[in-house]
Amino acid sequence: TGCPLTDAFGRQVRYLRLSVTDRCDLRCVYCMAARPVFMPRDQILTIEELARLADIFMANGVRRIRLTGGEPLVRRGVMALIERLGEAVVDGRLDELTLTTNGTRLAVHAKELAAAGIRRVNVSLDSLDPDTFHRLTRGGRLDGVLDGLDRAQAAGLHVKINAVALAGVIEREVDGLIRFAHGRGMDLTLIEVMPLGETGHDRRTQFLSLDSLCDDLATRWTLTRLPDRTAGPARYLRVAETGGRLGLITPLSHRFCESCDRVRISAAGRLYTCLGHDGAVDLAPALRAGTPDATEALIRQTLRLKPQGHDFAITRDAAHGIGRTMAALGG
Ligand code: GTP
Ligand code: 5AD
Ligand code: SF4
Repeated sequence: TGCPLTDAFGRQVRYLRLSVTDRCDLRCVYCMAARPVFMPRDQILTIEELARLADIFMANGVRRIRLTGGEPLVRRGVMALIERLGEAVVDGRLDELTLTTNGTRLAVHAKELAAAGIRRVNVSLDSLDPDTFHRLTRGGRLDGVLDGLDRAQAAGLHVKINAVALAGVIEREVDGLIRFAHGRGMDLTLIEVMPLGETGHDRRTQFLSLDSLCDDLATRWTLTRLPDRTAGPARYLRVAETGGRLGLITPLSHRFCESCDRVRISAAGRLYTCLGHDGAVDLAPALRAGTPDATEALIRQTLRLKPQGHDFAITRDAAHGIGRTMAALGG
């Protein structure tokens, strides 16, 4: 206990992405099937188990935790978990506790989140047009999310907007998203579509390379490269006209795995060492047997299997992907 968690390539794990549910109140077309099959409820870790797991990672060098989903705020009891993990921020065991959310419940929870020690949230928003938003999310309401963003900022939370670069949509949306986000002091990050799970849509028609989108952006905006902000996958550009930051997450066109410092845990307690690989190890039995040492040993053993990088590929003829959706693991 206490020594850093390191993989076979010498990368140290400092960042845990903890999925608290695979359920979601939206059904984004690049993320889920129209009628998704969710994990059986009895396989989902309890709030107590999630907290114990987080404790083990914190005791072994993890400094940042991001709660993900599905949609984390639809998980019953999630605020109790956030309050408990928020104590770790206060007493210095964690540098950051944060959340990636679709924003539908942000209006309700923003104040509590800020009070629990969360300072920053990432909110997914792919379109500012109510009809397009409704179509992409298969039924979601844009105004609820916009209200959530207002409340989050009013509560003092820093907000980053994530937009998936969907071909045929982002070309029309991107200028508006830049003006909207930067006008409100929020970073905007664009994400390339990744081939994760069956959604009933062909990835090849959804994928757009951010290189080509940026070439187009550069005809209207003045973009300059900024130094990397985090060990995370995003590269950042400054948009001179707005003064805001534009992040690019480009797993398909640029690799960023050398500096990877993260692991993921599904809501059922499976430890995934890479978003781009299906291999995982089930921590739930060790965790439920109540032996933190055995769980820690299993985590260390699993980390030896962390691959050097993902091997996502989307070409004109093939869309190599993996079985689970982003919602099963929180991205
Ligand atoms: P910060 O840098 O802490 O703001 O967060 P982030 O951008 O890493 O996290 P967020 O949850 O906002 O993720 C945005 C997108 O990046 C999601 O689609 C994630 O799936 C993707 N992403 C995050 N980490 C990785 C990674 O290690 N590999 C790949 N391929 N994608 C990632
Ligand atoms: N490819 C890229 N991003 C995805 N997301 C969900 N599914 C995919 C996918 N297949 C995004 C969500 C959210 C983030 C956590 O992941 O829109 O912003
Ligand atoms: Fe829900 Fe996020 Fe998946 Fe959309 S991308 S369906 S909001 S989990």
